[in-house]
Order: sequence, then C-alpha cells, then structure tokens
Amino acid sequence: MNTSHDKRQRIQDALAYFFSHPLPESEFRCQLASVADVPALLHLERYCFNPYLAFGRRRWRYLIAKSSCITVVIYHQQTLVAYLCLLPHRGWKGLEIRAVAVHWLHRNKGIGSWLLALAISLARQWHMKHLYLSVDCENEQARNMYKQLGFCVSALLADYYGLDRHGHRMRLSFRE
Ligand SMILES: CC(C)(COP(=O)(O)OP(=O)(O)OC[C@H]1O[C@@H](n2cnc3c(N)ncnc32)[C@H](O)[C@@H]1OP(=O)(O)O)[C@@H](O)C(=O)NCCC(=O)NCCS
Repeated sequence: MNTSHDKRQRIQDALAYFFSHPLPESEFRCQLASVADVPALLHLERYCFNPYLAFGRRRWRYLIAKSSCITVVIYHQQTLVAYLCLLPHRGWKGLEIRAVAVHWLHRNKGIGSWLLALAISLARQWHMKHLYLSVDCENEQARNMYKQLGFCVSALLADYYGLDRHGHRMRLSFRE
C-alpha cells in the first residue's frame, strides 16, 4: 500500500468511528482537520501549552497537509473545543499521540476520554503494538486520564519540558 492510500484509508477509519460513536454531548461536532482549522488550533494551543512546546503555524500546516498524521478537531458552533493529533509509525508498529487538548470551558465532560477512546480504537484497527505519548510529570489531569485508560509509564524523560521539568513516556500495549 502506498502512503497516500494508507492515509486515505486512515481518514475513512476515523470518519467511520465518528459515525458509530457519538460524542458525549450532541451539540459538539467532530471532523478531520484541514488547513482552514489552523488559526483555531493555534488559538486553543496558545491557552493550553507553554509557547516553547506549542507546535505553531508552520508545524500545524505541515502536520495537516503533508504528514501522515491524522488530526481530529471538535467544534461547538464556531469554537474549537478540542483536538487530537495522531502519528502512525509503521516501522515501530506504534501510534503516537502527538497532541491532545480540550478547551478549559469544556473539560470534565468526557471529551478527552472520547478522543483517547478513538485513538485506542484506531490503534487496534491498524494492528499497532502500542499507543504512546509523552506527558509532563506535573500534568495531573492528563496523567490521571491516561492511567485510567490503562497506560503505563515506560520511560522517564529528564528535563523534557524544560530544566527540572521532567516528562513521562506512557504506553498502552496491545496483544497481537
Ligand atoms: C487532559 C485533558 C485533555 C483532559 O480532557 P477532559 O475532556 O477534561 O477529560 P475527561 O472529562 O474525559 O476526563 C478524563 C479523566 O481525566 C482525569 N481528569 C480530568 N480532569 C481532572 C482534574 N481536574 N483533576 C484530576 N484528574 C482529572 C480524570 O481521571 C478523568 O476521569 P474521571 O472523570 O472518570 O475522573 C484536558 O485537561 C486538557 O486539555 N488539558 C490541557 C492540555 C493537556 O494537558 N493535554 C495533554 C498533554 S499530554
């Protein structure tokens, strides 16, 4: 299978998930990101992450338009309320969560868990061995969410988020 065929298939798999698994609240709508979503992504990212860690315009445009990433966005009316960016590594048979965030006014409504359930379902469907990510050790909300879903710490990432700001690599492994 060539890369563009792979990506088309992944897009279809994600769309099929949206139809079969409704979001926790019906006024939210889920779609795959296009470059038209970049300004909204930058806006939400600015409020969720330290500017040194944020992807920024050029990276988002590359991830959406050129890379093999699948980026999912959730809107409430015209407001972007959440996003998830997934990067498949075919060689390592792993699916990486490159970014996930929920708008502060819409947290604790199950949106983060819904996005993670989507990532888990796609990782299984694509026969990945692992779903993995990196998270700031001080990010209690995110770490709790990952632990609750069965992720385990697989490595300590010293100074990953800045001096004395350590991270954890977390991983959810699947049986073949
Ligand atoms: C982490 C984040 C995505 C969670 O999104 P969310 O939509 O609020 O998550 P959910 O409502 O699905 O909650 C899932 C679990 O997260 C944990 N959690 C959520 N908010 C929490 C809080 N304030 N304190 C502790 N744990 C919390 C809980 O384990 C919760 O499960 P429970 O409701 O059964 O207790 C969101 O807080 C966020 O966007 N944070 C800023 C960006 C970020 O840190 N991204 C992750 C980078 S690795």
